[in-house]
Amino acid sequence: MAYRVLVLNGPNLNMLGIREPQTYGAQTLADIEAMCVAEGRELGLEVECRQSNIEGELVTWIQQALGQFDALVLNPGAYSHTSIAIHDAIRAVGIKVIEVHLSNIHAREAFRHHSYVSAVATGVICGLGATGYKLALRALAEKR
Ligand code: DQA
Repeated sequence: MAYRVLVLNGPNLNMLGIREPQTYGAQTLADIEAMCVAEGRELGLEVECRQSNIEGELVTWIQQALGQFDALVLNPGAYSHTSIAIHDAIRAVGIKVIEVHLSNIHAREAFRHHSYVSAVATGVICGLGATGYKLALRALAEKR
């Protein structure tokens, strides 16, 4: 059976390409999603991509992943630093999560240093730009 991965991006990541390119790179979200689907195909993973600016929608999608997806690649954006609801949803579902950040959150403002998601993630990748998504998919494929 196909190994299904949901690539989930949180708030403001729909603005990639326009938003602070010196921090987040020049690629658009559409570029990154296309890259994830192509990488998934090479690795034998079935990849679906979604983005939302709404915390509750992300929570609902994480809940609905139960039985539908084998793992998540999740960039929660700013909700990483604030959302106990996303933390709780991941715990509730017990799904494997690789947390990805384009930027190195530890080299930035102090308020970005803590992520509520990291404690419930299998792994965390940050600071490697869009390559981080590819590495997350590769890790999932190896450890499936
Ligand atoms: C981010 C880092 C967060 O601190 C920020 O709020 C984002 C993007 C990243 O991918 O580097 O929206 O998750």
